[in-house]
Amino acid sequence: MAEAADSLPPAEVLLSKRVQELVINQEEPPHLYICRKSGEAADEEQEENVSSDPLSQIPVIDLSILSASSSPSSEHDGELQKLRLALSSWGCFLATGHGIPSSFLDEIVRVAREFFEQPMEEKRKLEKGVEEFEGYGGDPVPAKGQPLDWSDRLFLDVYPEDRRKLKFWPENPPSFRDVLQEYTVKMRMMTEAISKAMAKSLDLQEDCFLIQFGEKAPLQARFNYYSKCPRPDLVLGLKPHADGSGYTIILQDVEGLQVLKGDKWFTVPTISGALLVLMADQMEIMTNGVFKSPVHRVLSSSERDRISLAVFYTPEPNKEIGPEEALITEERPKAYKTVKDYADVHWDYYQQGSRAIHVAKV
Ligand code: OGA
Ligand code: NI
Repeated sequence: MAEAADSLPPAEVLLSKRVQELVINQEEPPHLYICRKSGEAADEEQEENVSSDPLSQIPVIDLSILSASSSPSSEHDGELQKLRLALSSWGCFLATGHGIPSSFLDEIVRVAREFFEQPMEEKRKLEKGVEEFEGYGGDPVPAKGQPLDWSDRLFLDVYPEDRRKLKFWPENPPSFRDVLQEYTVKMRMMTEAISKAMAKSLDLQEDCFLIQFGEKAPLQARFNYYSKCPRPDLVLGLKPHADGSGYTIILQDVEGLQVLKGDKWFTVPTISGALLVLMADQMEIMTNGVFKSPVHRVLSSSERDRISLAVFYTPEPNKEIGPEEALITEERPKAYKTVKDYADVHWDYYQQGSRAIHVAKV
């Protein structure tokens, strides 16, 4: 018998339960997780929108070529041009040559897995409230009518150190904190290198984005655990969205993430040792729209669970950012205003299921 709509549990109640628990109890996805149409028609429609073109793939950029201090070479210039093209057409690239050993990337995935594989009581020690960001749980309760994501998370502020709330940092597995600390140091180095390379690719002063972000630009780590889902036809791991940060660096252990380009979804491949660098709205603003902040989503899978780690790099709180002067030209007039704490505005819209970038448009 169908349940009456008002007897169904509201989002607050569902969000007090982890997706992993639903799966362990072999429950069907509750109504608020359903966000896709089922049936043949929907399948066809969805299939059509997923690219199967083997020649059109997310660009791979070797950062070691870009950060080499040797005098400019044609290889260096070629890679810079590739970077600019990647970010203006795709809004993302797969980074290799970033200096983080694959073995260390495997290790952080391993400790993340170990964390999520612990019994629920262990993880509940780090549980956040349903309206909070930091800690273990799901996203804060979205606006009415918005679907929930088929994932559990551990969200932590990792930089600057005085923003850390250690009460949310796992003590198990025992190496978790050290590994995350080391990853944070590496992310600091990587964001510096990427910010400089992006500036050079646009013929800008090397430090211009670093200056806009600020010396103490926060890094936040979001560990995502996507449980196996009995109904991947109905449920998404993470709904379509663009990020509100400056840019985001994503590590994944298996496929699942897709990026929208034009009207097609492209699956981000898992290449050993590669990290996805994804532009977010604030880089689109700082580049006056030259770089794109792409919409992306995560599919759910009935075959395997998935771990990802997204590190968000965001300008300092209370700091104004805006389009680089040199990118405002006659052909490309100023398209964005100066904004401050954009990530907060972004979040309000995200919770309503829409993008926020229009608020920054001139
Ligand atoms: C995000 C995100 C992708 C992933 O956390 O904003 O897009 O693969 N994550 O988990
Ligand atoms: Ni995202």
